Amino acid sequence: MSLEFPKNPGFSGFNAPFRMNIDLHDAEFEGEIPEELNGHFYRIQPDFIYPPRFSNDVPFNGDGNVTLFNFQHGRVDVKTHHVETQRYKAQKQARKALFGTYRNPRTDLDDVKGLSGGTANTNLIFHAGKLFALKEDSPPVQVDPYTLKGIDDYYTFDGKMTAKTFTAHPKIDPVNGEMIGIAYEAKGEASKDVALYAVDKQGNVCWEAWIEVPYAGMIHDFAITETHIALLVTPMAVNVEQMEQGGVHFAWDSSLPSYFGVVARNGDGTDLRWYEGPEKCATHVMNGFNDGNKIIVDMDMATGNQFPFFPSLHEQFDLQRASGRLTRITIDLDDKEATTYHTEVMYQDIGVLPRTDERYWSRPYNVGFMPCMDPTKPRSPSMAGNVGMTLNTWVRYDHDKRSSQTYFPGENYTLQECQFVPKSDDAPEGCGYLMGIANNFDTMLSELHILDAENIAAGTIAKVKLPVRLRQGVHGHWVSRNKLES
Ligand SMILES: [Fe+2]
Repeated sequence: MSLEFPKNPGFSGFNAPFRMNIDLHDAEFEGEIPEELNGHFYRIQPDFIYPPRFSNDVPFNGDGNVTLFNFQHGRVDVKTHHVETQRYKAQKQARKALFGTYRNPRTDLDDVKGLSGGTANTNLIFHAGKLFALKEDSPPVQVDPYTLKGIDDYYTFDGKMTAKTFTAHPKIDPVNGEMIGIAYEAKGEASKDVALYAVDKQGNVCWEAWIEVPYAGMIHDFAITETHIALLVTPMAVNVEQMEQGGVHFAWDSSLPSYFGVVARNGDGTDLRWYEGPEKCATHVMNGFNDGNKIIVDMDMATGNQFPFFPSLHEQFDLQRASGRLTRITIDLDDKEATTYHTEVMYQDIGVLPRTDERYWSRPYNVGFMPCMDPTKPRSPSMAGNVGMTLNTWVRYDHDKRSSQTYFPGENYTLQECQFVPKSDDAPEGCGYLMGIANNFDTMLSELHILDAENIAAGTIAKVKLPVRLRQGVHGHWVSRNKLES
């Protein structure tokens, strides 16, 4: 019996399955890698180690595959390794896919009953000396920060985390070092229960509260401020009927409102307040902060479904309505009568995956970054047939001046998420480097582009040239050597 992947654009070109674990000493690069870059840059991509059981499977259903860029002394070593999830290990042993379509256990083979279907393919975070690979439908998977080998395939913080899930976007409070996380569908499929956790800087769960959301839907990211947790419930709703017919976990139900929820950190959850708004799709948070008694959260926000592979129940997928722009959400806690949240589109650029200088997580901030799609930039013929996000610029925003500057790598590149790395622990906000994967459609190989974060319009200061093709990645995470070794 052959072992072949579906012959469609979702599995060819830069979407071709990666499947390898590589170990590259001294990657080739042009330019100069600054000495200050001393630490590990991790990024993760969903990969399919075996042909999916459903040829139209969604990209998010691939097995987590981590790339580690180890920076030291102006050089960089590169390692890739699959996250050793329960799912990965079972499928590797069986030499075939055992799990079914996206987050629908009804479509799994009987062989995997009782195993976690988590792919750990979305993000990584390093906290209290441990590196975790994350997927929002399951607990963290602990991996070795140097070898990337599996340590714990179902990490529950010594049994203190009873939720069945954990966010892919935990936040670390820059002042007290706590890691804050939420868990949606925390009591199982379609449950409206959301658990809130704080993990102290020693790695112990130090706060837990439970709240209920108006309806079960994707809560992919959330914000923390100094005092509160804020989360947005959008109409990407869990659809049990669709799953019973063999479909994927979510469907976009535009008949539902969006809800912005605000709840105190370290409380018991009873102060939770919901503010209602029209249909919105907002996936990622740039940052959140307090302004007096106002809670402010900046997110990329669109007016319709942003995920073409999750069915829309009431309309066709619309690229215009899927286009997200950085949007500021504000509520005033002093206004006891308020039932709605206020939105302001901050910039007109169409983009996704916003990031910030994470030393300012939860606090008033000024600098953010976002990969964007600029339709005015030229596009190489070599990119014809590219399926997926065609992000072609990285934009730096300075909110105090509402100004921006843009990095455009060239007509033959697509860009992935970008990561800010401060020049030193006490460098001013936004002073440091910006890096991320650029896929080169002329060479059909991947590169890591490194920029001066204060002058990204000037172009790269170094390009690390990989001898391989990386898939569309999701998120990345920088850990300085000081932190790794502390
Ligand atoms: Fe994400």
